[in-house]
Amino acid sequence: MKGIILAGGAGTRLYPCTISVSKQLLPIYDKPLIYYPLSMLLLAKIRDILIISTPRDIEDYKRLLGDGSRIGVHFEYAVQETPRGLADAFIVGEQFIGNDSVCLVLGDNVFYGAAMSEILAQAKDSIKNGGAAIFGCFMKNPQDFGVVEFDENKKVVSIEEKPKKPKSNYAVPGLYFYDNDVIRIAKSVQPSARGEIEISSVNEAYMNRNQLHVTLMGRGVSWFDTGSPKGMHKASGFVKTLQEMQGFYISCIEEIAWRKKLIDDEQLKKCGEELKQTDYGKYLLSLLNNEEESG
Ligand code: TTP
Repeated sequence: MKGIILAGGAGTRLYPCTISVSKQLLPIYDKPLIYYPLSMLLLAKIRDILIISTPRDIEDYKRLLGDGSRIGVHFEYAVQETPRGLADAFIVGEQFIGNDSVCLVLGDNVFYGAAMSEILAQAKDSIKNGGAAIFGCFMKNPQDFGVVEFDENKKVVSIEEKPKKPKSNYAVPGLYFYDNDVIRIAKSVQPSARGEIEISSVNEAYMNRNQLHVTLMGRGVSWFDTGSPKGMHKASGFVKTLQEMQGFYISCIEEIAWRKKLIDDEQLKKCGEELKQTDYGKYLLSLLNNEEESG
């Protein structure tokens, strides 16, 4: 399975911060926002990852993340000329996806939960014979999001955008698994009233074939959409509080790579040494002395 991080967009809700800088490079507390969605792909055991961004910003991502060998993965980069919509990821990424299945994560979505690896594995498994998997995050007030309704077999029966009367408490976050058909489906999607090729149209196509599964994230998972100043601040506060209380870092890509055995002790040490003037670097080095902690 391939992975795509969609890290372009206009970021207008964060102006003036994003007039000259890509949103997904801004910090969520102590690390760039893109580390958080990237962590989800690492936890899903996806090693081939395409980063899509704007013509203006793509070089910044290459400078930040390189070819991926530092954390034992392979990064490729592609430009989305204009923000044509989320489903455009599969058109821009067509060659990269090849004949594989694909996981798309939006560059501004932050997830945290102890069961994350398991939840991702379950979603991956649910499409092993084809189809698509989206997630449902339990929210007290889901009406600001897409809301998913499903039957007892976790087959989706409706997705409603910002419904006044939600049919469930489960909102759909920016993390999606698809079989290879997604390329063909994305190409057939017509632009919506706001001129974008919408991911909801792709999901609808799978739903109409009875091939759209939902994997639920219950109370154990926190999800933040960081597209607004409030969202960024909320996520930053959450990360700071948890990291200070527990001592474990959230979405530390080098740590995940090391725990998943993509890099060895020596490589982790090198990553830590590069950043050793920061708490982040010190944390990486401390992992080597605390191997009994499972994180
Ligand atoms: P949005 O937050 O919907 O859009 P945006 O980032 O352009 O922000 P704003 O509404 O403030 O102008 O995008 C969700 C994520 O998807 C975000 O990480 C940017 C990314 N994205 C693209 O990379 N290309 C696109 O065509 C679109 C629509 C979004």
